[in-house]
Amino acid sequence: MSMHYLAALSAVALGAILLLRSAFKWMNGARTGKDEGRMLPPGSRGLPLLGETLEFFAASPTLELVPFFKRRLERFGPIFRTNIVGEDLIVSLDPELNARVLQQEERGFQIWYPSSFMRVFGDDNIISALGPLHRHIRNLVLRLFGPEALRLVLLRDVQRSARDELRSWLDHPDVEMIFAVTAKKLISHDDAASGGSLWKCFDAWTKGLLSFPLCVPGTAFYKCMQGRKNVMKILKQQLDERRNTAERRTVDFFDLVIDELNKPDPIMNENIALDLLFLLLFASHETTSMGLTAILKFLTDNPKALQELTEEHEKIVETRVDPDSDITWEEYKSMRFTSHVIHESLRLANIAPVVFRQANQDVYIKGYTIPEGSKIMICPSAAHLNSKVYEDPTAFNPWRWKDTPEPVGGSKDFMAFGGGLRLCVGADFAKLQMAMFIHCLVTKYSWKPISKGTMVFYPGLRFPEGFHIQLLAKA
Ligand code: HEM
Repeated sequence: MSMHYLAALSAVALGAILLLRSAFKWMNGARTGKDEGRMLPPGSRGLPLLGETLEFFAASPTLELVPFFKRRLERFGPIFRTNIVGEDLIVSLDPELNARVLQQEERGFQIWYPSSFMRVFGDDNIISALGPLHRHIRNLVLRLFGPEALRLVLLRDVQRSARDELRSWLDHPDVEMIFAVTAKKLISHDDAASGGSLWKCFDAWTKGLLSFPLCVPGTAFYKCMQGRKNVMKILKQQLDERRNTAERRTVDFFDLVIDELNKPDPIMNENIALDLLFLLLFASHETTSMGLTAILKFLTDNPKALQELTEEHEKIVETRVDPDSDITWEEYKSMRFTSHVIHESLRLANIAPVVFRQANQDVYIKGYTIPEGSKIMICPSAAHLNSKVYEDPTAFNPWRWKDTPEPVGGSKDFMAFGGGLRLCVGADFAKLQMAMFIHCLVTKYSWKPISKGTMVFYPGLRFPEGFHIQLLAKA
């Protein structure tokens, strides 16, 4: 045997031993639950580098808690450790910890999202903003989507948009729809008129949002970043154009931003404004249309709920002087069963499947220590499927909300819109959009499902084959 051969063999053996040692160290890092005398939550880091990412994203075709969470809940309890997309995380399926995390924003806990997410949304987006800057940006958004704007402007705009949208479906029986009204309100962008160019940039998105931030052609993250580049180019161009044009009659987000930027001591700058705009377009595009598709699917499968819903809306139309007049604010507020249907659908739909934070200090809970700096992942669906709170939790049962106060600001048992200081700033707008859409749908149309519309959770909801229906005008 030559010396060369022996040397090569020893090098390979040494390499294998080192690799095995680091793999062993990696996997046991999280299993023992002990760190310098502190009792860390139990868990596993999975495979070297990959961690438990593959299992986390595995498809689940039922409304039950996805297997990734379910298995660990049974094995470790509601607080455990994992490693996903290269991040060591503490997962909370525990209502008490969830409530503490969301209610102690900027005290015990602080906003944090994985780097793939932050890079897609930009360094200056609302999610990275803290303290007074965060409040300032929220207030700006609320001027466009807050209670007053909803009552005075959006109620009318949204119902017209829903009416037009549905009318166009008579020719195109596909429910994967786009709500033009948000883009109009934000940037006066008429996407239909420009051939849907803006929304096309958002395609194939959600997959790359939470992923390994590998910006290499072919990866979901790369596609996401390309989408960001294209949308940002359009937004920057439009902002520049608008800064050079004279005053306008209708107010959109650009007007608010231009006013801000022209102030003597502006709190915002152009980057913050563009990143915010980008996030708002994305947040409103993906979430509301997914929510509406889920509502349609649940109603298709639950004729009794559809009947009660239809009766609620027909009654509203019957009591009007002119049946075709616009929906009033009082009528909107009277839609009790509609509101139950929306909440019940959001409870089951898992649209924002996880929410992230970082511990600002050592946190002690249920015998565990969550050390300062730990990254925490909250899973709202665990709260939404808790059988101690929701009887028969996987059943679509809008009547369960009848005697329950509406979870307006979020609660430990209903977290579809998050909670605390970061409660979704578009929640009321999204609910208005859904209610307006439902009103136009059930008063003017009926529908026949063409495809099954299977719901699959990854762990966020998707309809892999879409949900296709045929819309029929009522006589
Ligand atoms: C069904 C529809 C929607 C769902 C389920 C949803 C869900 C959420 C959730 C869970 C959060 C909290 C994230 C966290 O705490 O880290 C959030 C925040 C946010 N949402 Fe929504 N959202 C929806 C619609 C919208 C719409 C229509 C808009 C815009 C008009 C919007 C804009 C935002 C913004 C800007 C934030 C960040 C708030 C902050 O950091 O202060 N969302 N959303």
